[in-house]
Amino acid sequence: MLQLEPTADGSNTLYVPELQEHYHSIKGALTESMHIFIEMGLRHSTVPSPHVLEIGFGTGLNAFLTLLEAEQNKRKTSYTSIELFPVGEEIIQRLKYPEGICPEHKDLYYKLHSAEWGTTVPITSLFTLHKIEADFTQYPIKGKYDIVYFDAFAPEKQPEMWNERLFKELYSALNINGILTTYCAKGTVRRMLKACGFYVERLPGPPKGKREILRATKTV
Ligand SMILES: C[S@@+](CC[C@H](N)C(=O)[O-])C[C@H]1O[C@@H](n2cnc3c(N)ncnc32)[C@H](O)[C@@H]1O
Repeated sequence: MLQLEPTADGSNTLYVPELQEHYHSIKGALTESMHIFIEMGLRHSTVPSPHVLEIGFGTGLNAFLTLLEAEQNKRKTSYTSIELFPVGEEIIQRLKYPEGICPEHKDLYYKLHSAEWGTTVPITSLFTLHKIEADFTQYPIKGKYDIVYFDAFAPEKQPEMWNERLFKELYSALNINGILTTYCAKGTVRRMLKACGFYVERLPGPPKGKREILRATKTV
């Protein structure tokens, strides 16, 4: 049973008692998502109309922040996200993300959640969403992407999501200069990414959060 919890920057997150794991950093859910996925991923990419692939749709926070970027910068964005355990509507409402981030686009946050699964849905004229209800460890990834937001639960909690076979698949699914960002900077993850061919950077983590995060780039 998912539990709602506030984090240090005032934004909420979810806690999974069975895994003893949070969806985001308790030092700031919004701060973490903005830093790792938007700043270090989306804004770092020079692709005019990026294709984003997210592992773990969850609360839709990363998707909402990406949509807001698309609108603000008039940057057409296609967003695909894989999720095995969609979060129920009642919890989504209680998270109050749009209220705290961008109340004028509240309806768009809920539109991300009500969008049909398994098909591409235009959310705005600049942002399309394709939600895939599937197990990432079994799902053959189709299409080519410019940015991967790798936002699985931690390797200690879900080791099956963090292995070389899966990172190789993500590498193959990326265009040249494509990037993958993740909050996990563990040596084992870094080495796996390098073994797949990625150029891996350790970057400073979010303000008041983790010391380091990773960005992996497909250079050739
Ligand atoms: C750390 S949470 C992050 C979610 C999301 N990015 C967010 O901002 O709320 C990890 C997500 O991965 C999902 N997940 C767990 N196992 C999965 C699997 N095998 N395949 C796809 N998604 C999975 C969880 O349900 C959860 O939504």
